[in-house]
Amino acid sequence: MPIHKIMENIYSVGAIDWDRTLFDALIPLPYGTSYNAYLIRGSKKTALIDTVEPAKWEDLKQNLSKLNVDKIDYVVSNHAEQDHSGSLPHLLDLYPESVLITGKKGRDMLVPLLDLNEERIQIIEDREELSLGDKTLQFIFAPWVHWPETMFTYLKEDEILFSCDLFGSHLASSHLYASRHDNWLPEAKRYYAEIMMPFASRIVKHLETISRFPVKMIAPSHGPVHDKPDLILQYYQQWVSEEVKNEVILIYASMHGSTENLTMHLTDALIHRGVRVMPFNTISADIGEIALALVDAATVVVASPAILMGLHPNIVYATYIMNSLKPKTRFAGLIGSYGWAHKMVDQLKNLTGDLKVELLEPVLIKGYPTIQDYEQIDHLAELIAEKHRSAGINGA
Ligand code: FEO
Repeated sequence: MPIHKIMENIYSVGAIDWDRTLFDALIPLPYGTSYNAYLIRGSKKTALIDTVEPAKWEDLKQNLSKLNVDKIDYVVSNHAEQDHSGSLPHLLDLYPESVLITGKKGRDMLVPLLDLNEERIQIIEDREELSLGDKTLQFIFAPWVHWPETMFTYLKEDEILFSCDLFGSHLASSHLYASRHDNWLPEAKRYYAEIMMPFASRIVKHLETISRFPVKMIAPSHGPVHDKPDLILQYYQQWVSEEVKNEVILIYASMHGSTENLTMHLTDALIHRGVRVMPFNTISADIGEIALALVDAATVVVASPAILMGLHPNIVYATYIMNSLKPKTRFAGLIGSYGWAHKMVDQLKNLTGDLKVELLEPVLIKGYPTIQDYEQIDHLAELIAEKHRSAGINGA
């Protein structure tokens, strides 16, 4: 990754991972990612905020060398997850005089994760300040974005918020600033959906906290730096709000065509009633695209054939992910086909126990759909459209 100068004596020195295709062995990365680290040179002390994925240590090391960094006084760990902390052992070896700055929770995670020497760690408290001479770092504890120990570092004089994972995006790019990217917004939203959505209620509080600080720039630990911070802050306000849209996500699997026919009939019936529909066939659907759609949709309908009386395994997987992401979806439906018997309703209820949804009357048919079955699907479409209208959902 090239070195980017952000302001006088402030540099982005992290690494781009152009080829990474999967995060956490789970999340597809269509545009790679970056591990951002930031160097701040004060008149008396030098600090580095976060490091990089261990496989990219050489990139960080080279960038520090190019800037002739022969001493780092403080290494701030905003987040203990290894994509940001994994190079700390290398860095602490290379700069033996450096002190690792983190909170108590950060220490309790970093030491066992990385086998660090506790004597190298200086524990800071929430809102504590650290002087670099003409620059001052302030630490703002921000739990659950996205682990319990996460914190922001605020550079007071330059009004830059180093926000760790919050406001990040998995987007490898040669440009530093979000304003230079055509696709910064969908990727920031995808990142919110995949990583941050389960913590929406925490983020509401963090947004309140951030609003009390003047912020000229937000520098997250993945993806572009937000040079127009008001934009990303406004979008986050919308994503974490209770507001949903007149949209239905249809997550389906089909073995012999019955469930697919029901799904397509429901798709058309909803479109006919002015509802936006997003069908996802679980054979090929990108789980990140489903997560992205879940940010706004008022309703999710799961469509499954019965396999050994239960939901299709693809549907179990997608539903498990959905439950973990805790979207603000208000209504859920279940449609599908079975051969002789099923227990799909109870299974779905068990899988979605963390969602605050109203489960609409399921439409589960035996065998191939008949005219009467399609009429039931029409009734479901009408019910969904009416639920959206009655709830005053935007666009209904
Ligand atoms: Fe980018 Fe939660 O680590």
